[in-house]
Amino acid sequence: MTDAIVSFAVKQLGDFLTQEIVDRKNLRTRVEWLRNELGYMQSFIQDAEEKQSDDHRMQQWISEITDIAHNTVAILKDCNLKVGAPKSGFFNSLQTYACLCSREANLHNISQQLESLKQRVLDISRKRETYGIRNLSNSAGEGANRGPNSRSIIKRLRRATSYVDQDRLFVGFEDVTRTLLAELFKMECRRSVISIYGMGGLGKTTVARELYNSSKVMENFRYRAWVCVSQEYSTSDLLRTLIKSFRKRCFGDELKIIEKMDEEDLERYLREILKGHKYLAVVDDVWHKEAWESLKRAFPDDKNGSRVIITTRKKDVATRVDDRSFVHELRFLTPDESWDLFCKKISHGDGYNNWCSAGMLDLGGQMVHKCGGLPLAIVVLGGLLCHKERLQEWHEVKEHIWRHLKNDSLEISFLLSLSYDDLSGQLKHCFLYLGSFLEDSLIDVEKLKWLWMAEGFITAREAKMEEVADHYLNELVNRSMIQIADKMWDKIAYCRIHDLLRDLAVQKAIEILIYHRRILNSREN
Ligand SMILES: Nc1ncnc2c1ncn2[C@@H]1O[C@H](COP(=O)(O)OP(=O)(O)OP(=O)(O)O)[C@@H](O)[C@H]1O
Ligand SMILES: [Mg+2]
Repeated sequence: MTDAIVSFAVKQLGDFLTQEIVDRKNLRTRVEWLRNELGYMQSFIQDAEEKQSDDHRMQQWISEITDIAHNTVAILKDCNLKVGAPKSGFFNSLQTYACLCSREANLHNISQQLESLKQRVLDISRKRETYGIRNLSNSAGEGANRGPNSRSIIKRLRRATSYVDQDRLFVGFEDVTRTLLAELFKMECRRSVISIYGMGGLGKTTVARELYNSSKVMENFRYRAWVCVSQEYSTSDLLRTLIKSFRKRCFGDELKIIEKMDEEDLERYLREILKGHKYLAVVDDVWHKEAWESLKRAFPDDKNGSRVIITTRKKDVATRVDDRSFVHELRFLTPDESWDLFCKKISHGDGYNNWCSAGMLDLGGQMVHKCGGLPLAIVVLGGLLCHKERLQEWHEVKEHIWRHLKNDSLEISFLLSLSYDDLSGQLKHCFLYLGSFLEDSLIDVEKLKWLWMAEGFITAREAKMEEVADHYLNELVNRSMIQIADKMWDKIAYCRIHDLLRDLAVQKAIEILIYHRRILNSREN
């Protein structure tokens, strides 16, 4: 968490430098100095945080930096409150002039507070050298580099970009796809429902997508549509999505009409589109059987072999969604499939893991075993390890995992959190921001990158901002922290975040917010 807090302080200092007030009372020099120093410290923290539980000196050092970062944020907040820009208007001007003296005094006070922070920073830098607290790993995150914008980050990120091919990764489950394909094509004319259930991250959506995009299905079902339901949904919106998905191309006037239709009209419209056609619809991530009940009237049964695939985490939804549905409980990956998935995930685009030493593969095997065949855990683990090129780093991850095993297996929430902790400060911000999107929503990647830039998460001195934003996006994909939803001309056009990772982003953002509030409150009281 320190990493994110220090990064927040660095950002606040950067923002402060753009204000006019900074040119008074030597503030600029002090603020610039502090921003640079904290920026340098940030580069040590990420790795240091991982070590802190084992080393008391490190713990102390980190807590001092955290405190300085909090103090910095609090001083800047004070400054904005007490000596912010004068308000316009006659009475406000009067007020401003009346407060001029106290404003000057406050500025002086702030300048002194910054100076005393400088002394504390110098002091802890000295301690770091005196007590031999050094940067522990040169290759973890931004490691030994001076600041988050160094050339090596760009180099590292470029390398990450070169092996993005995760959208087509599908491993194992051959028997599953065989069974489900047989069900899709069996000689049964009535429109039937196939429901796939299993725990979060087991691969239900991935399996359904594999079927949906298989050439056999594409040839036989000319009418296909995909809709994601989630916990909160609006039936009208689901119907609109289905119509657009079946129609493939909806243009101007039709789009406008659809937007204005109410639920009943939408239902009728969809029935008209599908009448007489053999279709396949995937209704993904259903939490309540009522969701399908409210949609099913829109799906005609013309006894032509049409099919609906439903995916859900809940067994009772899967079994009760339709009287005669074919219910499939998705299994976990076998050990061989798990290993295969891990190896593909860590390969640098060429499908091989020959950059790993035998020792790494041995450790990898032990860690994959603890994933218990859960694909999400395996891809996140792979995404975490494929950025680590030294055996020692793999050892560290393993030790971390072993310390947090529950009933001898890895808890997915812990692994996701570990993967988050491994992100650089700026990437953490970019990831946390994803928590603000609705569950299962399609995220327009161009927009997302602009939003990141506007929020100030992308600061680049040695590369174009857009290039850095692209690299960040790719790094999150490679780490399996976001998924590619759609590509255009080989570039990612839409992405989405898995529910469990979105939950993590929201939870981490709340933790940081609470922490900030507590510190600020304790200063104010
Ligand atoms: N067979 C597979 N091959 C490759 N990757 C897979 C496979 N199954 C799952 N994954 C990966 O695991 C992640 C989680 O899978 P998926 O989203 O399909 O799970 P889910 O069962 O639909 O979870 P939820 O219930 O949360 O919707 C995906 O990002 C995907 O990359
Ligand atoms: Mg799913």
